[in-house]
Amino acid sequence: MQLFLDTTDIDALKGLAATGLVDGVTTNPSLIAKSGRPMLEVIAEICGLVEGPVSAEVAATDYEGMLNEGLKLAALASNVVIKLPMTRDGLIATQHFAREGIQTNVTLCFSSNQALLAAKSGATFVSPFVGRLDDVGEDGMGLIHDIRAVFDNYAFDTEILAASIRTPAHVHAASIAGADAVTVPPAVFEALFKHPLTEKGLEQFMSDWAKAGQSIL
Ligand code: E4P
Repeated sequence: MQLFLDTTDIDALKGLAATGLVDGVTTNPSLIAKSGRPMLEVIAEICGLVEGPVSAEVAATDYEGMLNEGLKLAALASNVVIKLPMTRDGLIATQHFAREGIQTNVTLCFSSNQALLAAKSGATFVSPFVGRLDDVGEDGMGLIHDIRAVFDNYAFDTEILAASIRTPAHVHAASIAGADAVTVPPAVFEALFKHPLTEKGLEQFMSDWAKAGQSIL
């Protein structure tokens, strides 16, 4: 499973990219606004920091606007993925980019039928929003299971990018559900390294080692 960072925080990205475990990055208009920087500049910088796919979302809601913005974003770097909303125009634009060989990520997916349409449109990724479904009392992870079944039934190669991931438990559940990728905020990524028994065990080993008075080198 690929692990993407859902962020425009360059310092957090640099720190985690240094682990060699960041397979890509996703952004959205809210995260761009949070960065306080011009979008084209931020996306270009992120693309220079990771080799994998970097999702950059169009702001237009009409087909023509999406095409124009998408082409401008795609020209920034070869690893840009055009992120498009799960709307009629978004899917028609997805089909256009698929014909041009440009990678896409259909975002704001909240049902398996929407994912089916995204896959039929040739999307590279579809992003079901797990946390936002949980927020309104629906079963976010159930949607990942459903989409996995649908895509496997018909051998779609669109990748399931579990998004709106809020906790390490979400990452675990997405991996069991067969998501191809998850995108997580930096704090959730950091938490994946940790377990209280790892910390406790290491402390004990280091304490015993110090008492033994030995040296490996
Ligand atoms: C994914 O592409 C989105 O940027 C993101 O995961 C949304 O997460 P949120 O629901 O926590 O804002």
